[in-house]
Amino acid sequence: MNETFIQLAYLLATALFIFSLKWMNDPETARRGVFAGVAAMIVAVAGTLAKPGIVNYEWIALAAVLGAVVGIPLSRVPLTAVPQRTALSHAFGGLAAGLVGTAKFYLWLHESPSELTHFRTAVISTEVLLGFLTFTGSLMAAGKLQEIIPSRPIVYRNQNFINLSLFGIAVLCAVLLTIDPLRFKGLFPVVIVLSLLFGVLLILPIGGADMPTVISLLNSYAGLSAVAMGFVLENKLLITAGALDGSSGLILSIIMCKAMNRSFTNVLFGAFGQVQVSAADAEKKTVKSCTPKDAAQILENANFVVIVPGYGMAVAQAQHRVREIYDQLVERGITVKFAIHPVAGRMPGHMNVLLAEAEIPYEDLVEMDEINPEMPQCDVCLVIGANDVVNPAARHDKNSPIYGMPIIDADKAKTVLAIKRSMNPGFAGIENELYYLDKTLMVFGDAKAVTGEIAKHLAGEGASIH
Ligand code: TAP
Repeated sequence: MNETFIQLAYLLATALFIFSLKWMNDPETARRGVFAGVAAMIVAVAGTLAKPGIVNYEWIALAAVLGAVVGIPLSRVPLTAVPQRTALSHAFGGLAAGLVGTAKFYLWLHESPSELTHFRTAVISTEVLLGFLTFTGSLMAAGKLQEIIPSRPIVYRNQNFINLSLFGIAVLCAVLLTIDPLRFKGLFPVVIVLSLLFGVLLILPIGGADMPTVISLLNSYAGLSAVAMGFVLENKLLITAGALDGSSGLILSIIMCKAMNRSFTNVLFGAFGQVQVSAADAEKKTVKSCTPKDAAQILENANFVVIVPGYGMAVAQAQHRVREIYDQLVERGITVKFAIHPVAGRMPGHMNVLLAEAEIPYEDLVEMDEINPEMPQCDVCLVIGANDVVNPAARHDKNSPIYGMPIIDADKAKTVLAIKRSMNPGFAGIENELYYLDKTLMVFGDAKAVTGEIAKHLAGEGASIH
């Protein structure tokens, strides 16, 4: 009876996890997707707590309280800090998998060595290897994003060779352990130490800004170690949930790499994000700028406005002011659309989440491929804290690090208004020729302050920024 309840709970949880992922694919159903995921986790935990193997509920209760004490403040971090928060979750998921694998290995080794079959040892070694490397790798990723450790790539000679050799030695130890766990048991701690070390070394040469892609890759490693843990503990739900986690992390990394026109090897070994200094930087070019008041007047006279939000809008938390501009323009009968680039900002769906928070209707959020054919008809393209995703060099400059990355064709609009604080580059560390075009006017300042001023002028109120 109890076993039937557990298996039914696991089946229900698996179905809910799958629906959760499906619903999270669309902004309209994303909220439902989150609730389904939470429900799945509650059902899964309830099913697991009913297992007869559990003999001590006090320790579980204590762990739950400790987890809540750490988890509740973590859930309140600002949206811009979500990538590092996610990395921390992966770190602890990886640590849990690594510790469970270690505990099981030594339990079987000391109490019933015959249980340490080749298959089980292979699975435990995989779990421990992936778990511990995810632990240190994710901690490093979180540290780089939070700038606790330098976020620039740290590169030294023969780095890739050294890293891959270390990983190769760890795999070799795991293989020997699998062949004869009792004879080679001394190699188990070596696998742990090498995995912990490899996690650190893997992240060192990767620039802070590449971290979101790496975090989602580490997510897939954490998922795979959970799959291995499922085999070790003979828990089918862990196997399915881990597989879902692992595959979705991998798919997300692939989507991000494609949208940046980068390969996995380039992200992992390319040391992207080092500041580029080219001869062109030396020559002085001029830009035209205008005040928020001028920008408001230009916007008022348009029929069709496309707003391109980027990382700067997220940093400035300008989305509510942008909503005010949207309301003012729509009230005047002007068509306003938001052009959403798949890697604008620093995490997948970054812009969608911010604009949804400001309650901008979903139907006005248009994907890059759909908006680009409309750009030549656009009267004013308002670029808010976006840089790389509107850089025309991606289309024609073969020497540019972003060459080949699909962009939003802001330069094809009749007029471009670009809000940012300075002429500093964005994530890729390169100049943007869009800002130097004749049709472009820069509106310098913090995105929240400038959009606030524009909104005030549109509303007919006085404003103070020049
Ligand atoms: P970026 O190219 O990073 O440019 C952001 C611009 O915002 C900067 O040039 C900065 O200029 C400006 N800015 C920063 N703070 C601001 C503020 N408070 N007010 C006004 N402006 C501000 O951003 P993007 O166009 O969104 O492109 C995203 C980049 O990140 C792409 O290269 C993409 O490949 C990369 N990336 C994205 C992801 C995901 S999943 N989204 C993951 C990894 C990497 P100032 O300093 O002059 O203000």
